[in-house]
Amino acid sequence: MTSSTSTPPASAQSTLWNGHSGHAWVDLQPVLDQMFHPFLDLLVDAVKKESPRRVLDVGCGTGSTTIAIAQEIGSQDHCTGVDISQPMIDVARMRARQTGVSADFVHADAQTHDFPAASIDMIVSRFGVMFFDRPGEAFANLRRASREGALLNVIAWRGAADNPFMTTAERAAGPYIELPARQPGVPGQFAFADQDKVATLLKDSGWRDIDIQPVDVECSLPERELVGYISRLGPVGLALQQADAATRARVIDAVRPAFDQYVHGDDIRYVAACWSIRARSPARETTPPQP
Ligand SMILES: C[S@@+](CC[C@H](N)C(=O)[O-])C[C@H]1O[C@@H](n2cnc3c(N)ncnc32)[C@H](O)[C@@H]1O
Repeated sequence: MTSSTSTPPASAQSTLWNGHSGHAWVDLQPVLDQMFHPFLDLLVDAVKKESPRRVLDVGCGTGSTTIAIAQEIGSQDHCTGVDISQPMIDVARMRARQTGVSADFVHADAQTHDFPAASIDMIVSRFGVMFFDRPGEAFANLRRASREGALLNVIAWRGAADNPFMTTAERAAGPYIELPARQPGVPGQFAFADQDKVATLLKDSGWRDIDIQPVDVECSLPERELVGYISRLGPVGLALQQADAATRARVIDAVRPAFDQYVHGDDIRYVAACWSIRARSPARETTPPQP
């Protein structure tokens, strides 16, 4: 698969990932990569077991998982990252060049991009598949791109109730700043909270052997990075971009102590409650011979 660029539609998610959220993920790339490294290890281990020749990393962001997989599978085989965010893909390409790794990066909307049919042996994603506004179309498109028997192996968040760390900031900031209510099922971090809905989504978009298992993983970030993290990411980080300096200071003062329970010396530690979602692309339907 070669590098290419297609113009993404200006959906709300596209606007977000090419704007504030994309830039926040670029600026905080080292912190986020440290924090989510255990999930990269899970996906690289899965690749080792599967031995695919062609891997696609969906919503690859700044490229860590794509690059780690490209290093694992070697130069005979290939890993491609696809992402809707131009600033994140730019960083991914730069990091691959700097690492000397041969990985491709495609700037496109994975739900509609015209991937070569039946070209992929394994699809992975670290938190990149919950943002589709037409998830059925997206997973059908990914299945068409997969060869018979290809493995889909993606990580997504379980619900907000299982992930109190992720909603600590908004609970503490609520009295000081207006925040949009989290709506279950809409594109975003917790869109895949409902296991049965995810299973139905995959079944209806043509995937088989669907297996969704909970994974609870301890994640950490340096304590000194916490305020930067809160101020840029999640609903509070987004709302603070529009806030004046006094409001920002009030919100940070209110939010920071709410994280005390997660402080362990110089580190912040919490458990990320996620799904490991696996499925296989079925055998192609063959046209019965004409009488
Ligand atoms: C939470 S970030 C995860 C990034 C990366 N996988 C990582 O673990 O560092 C979600 C990523 O999904 C990408 N994304 C959202 N909607 C997408 C779409 N329709 N097609 C491709 N990428 C998309 C975003 O641009 C963002 O890079």
